[in-house]
Amino acid sequence: MTEGDRNRDRDRDLSVYEQIGGAATFWRLVDCFYAKVEQHPLLRPLFPDDLEEGKRWQALFLMQYWGGPAQYATERGHPRLRMRHAPFAITPAARDAWLHCMLAAIDETDIPEPARGQMRDYFEKAAAFMVNRVLPADDGATS
Ligand code: HEM
Repeated sequence: MTEGDRNRDRDRDLSVYEQIGGAATFWRLVDCFYAKVEQHPLLRPLFPDDLEEGKRWQALFLMQYWGGPAQYATERGHPRLRMRHAPFAITPAARDAWLHCMLAAIDETDIPEPARGQMRDYFEKAAAFMVNRVLPADDGATS
């Protein structure tokens, strides 16, 4: 058995949370993502003036989702993400911008494979689910 095989076997048993280094890595990822949101002309106005609380929920949610402690559920209850996003006008363009920032943050945080690929797949699917406003110009209609 090669070292690569051993790594793969070990990774199969570990949650993504454990594979990527636990809470510290999720805080770095979310810090990096929010630094991008803060600079983004389309995203920044969608978010509240004070970003700190949302940032904390985002980090706690992601840790829980990827197999870490369930502190989000304890403090906040069921995620109900679509409902929690309903007050924010999320167009396809906003989704693309959000995804671009998150995928870049994953790379800048040096999250290794296979966790990187799993996280990218998840964010691509989940971001599509969060779109709640489709403007006539975006929906393919011709009139
Ligand atoms: C992969 C998809 C996404 C996930 C997993 C996600 C996750 C989250 C989480 C966990 C929260 C905090 C919820 C809470 O208050 O308990 C949140 C808040 C928020 N998200 Fe998302 N989100 C996603 C996509 C998006 C997209 C596409 C946008 C807009 C372009 C967006 C904009 C926001 C805004 C504006 C907030 C509120 C922040 C605040 O209250 O400070 N999200 N999101």
